Amino acid sequence: MVQQTQLGVSWVGCGSAHPAMVLSNTDLSQVVDTSDEWITTRTGIQQRYLAQGGESLSALAAQAGQAALEMAQVDATGVDLIILATSTPDDLFGSASQVQAALGASQAVAFDLTAACSGFVFALVTASQFIRTGAYRTVLVIGADMLSRWVDWTDRRTCILFGDGAGAVVLQASDRDRLLGFEMRSDGTMNDCLTLAYGSEPQTLMADKTVQQGTFQPITMNGKEVYRFAVKRVPEVIEKALFRGGLTAGDIDWLVLHQANQRILDAVADRMGIPSERVISNMARYGNTSAASIPIALDEAVRSGRIKAGDVIASSGFGAGLTWGAAIFEWG
Ligand code: COA
Repeated sequence: MVQQTQLGVSWVGCGSAHPAMVLSNTDLSQVVDTSDEWITTRTGIQQRYLAQGGESLSALAAQAGQAALEMAQVDATGVDLIILATSTPDDLFGSASQVQAALGASQAVAFDLTAACSGFVFALVTASQFIRTGAYRTVLVIGADMLSRWVDWTDRRTCILFGDGAGAVVLQASDRDRLLGFEMRSDGTMNDCLTLAYGSEPQTLMADKTVQQGTFQPITMNGKEVYRFAVKRVPEVIEKALFRGGLTAGDIDWLVLHQANQRILDAVADRMGIPSERVISNMARYGNTSAASIPIALDEAVRSGRIKAGDVIASSGFGAGLTWGAAIFEWG
């Protein structure tokens, strides 16, 4: 039973995982008409990890989840809820249950949450509500994506950006609430800017009856619009989340943004007056791993000792939907 006093959220572990295969910018220049110089200058990305045949989204997510549980010293059977933020499940019915089975989290209910590159922040906030109401005590939140499955590898404007990976955190009920503020937003009128849309054709069942069947179509993106959107909306949503927590940008120890483009990170930090040494960036090695990018960056920063217990982290995810959101939390 959850004690009435334990309705706060604490962060007790994190973990991450990525496929073994590396695709460098130079490798990519053999696939499409691009160069290491162009990609590095425009995005900050130098390489990305890509899943090979036989590697599944759920196995990668479970690997990240396992690492987070180990850091938290929580047995899988003690997990009450698993939320898997992904847009690239192995199974459209959801991949969270496969993760639950792989981890042996027999007592946990598990479900997928889809909000593209905002997925991890949205899942974090969703998980926190279950803890704050006292419904669940220990929650595993995983962000995992394999956008390599859905990228058009002939389109140099998009294929250079994305990579595959998974990251996870374990949240637990505690006396003190370390989720200090959050804000989530959507704007479907801008959906066309970034899509991975279903495309179909009629299949005739009988003379006057058809059904639509097809598959999802590769990612399309209006890069300039998405760039403008991110640079404007991300500072706004972080400010709002800070305001809700009675905080200001000066209280932020670390900015852990969705790793989409180094220029977006720099512009957001600049607008908010946050020095570059307070901005966590690992996109040079990973590219944009969608829902996985924030927890991977967080995990690396925690394990390397940069982020310490008590540090205030401003995280913000943004992307397709369009969706965007921020969560301000104290690590530990
Ligand atoms: N290699 C070489 N040249 C490329 C290229 C590549 N990979 N991709 C585009 N180009 C060319 C274009 O064809 C264009 O050439 P042109 O002027 O002769 O027509 C030129 O480079 C500029 O292209 P443009 O699309 O205007 O570049 P940009 O400065 O807007 O940068 C992005 C493109 C994608 C890096 C940038 O728009 C961006 O990062 N946007 C945000 C995307 C994002 O983060 N999406 C995910 C959000 S979750």
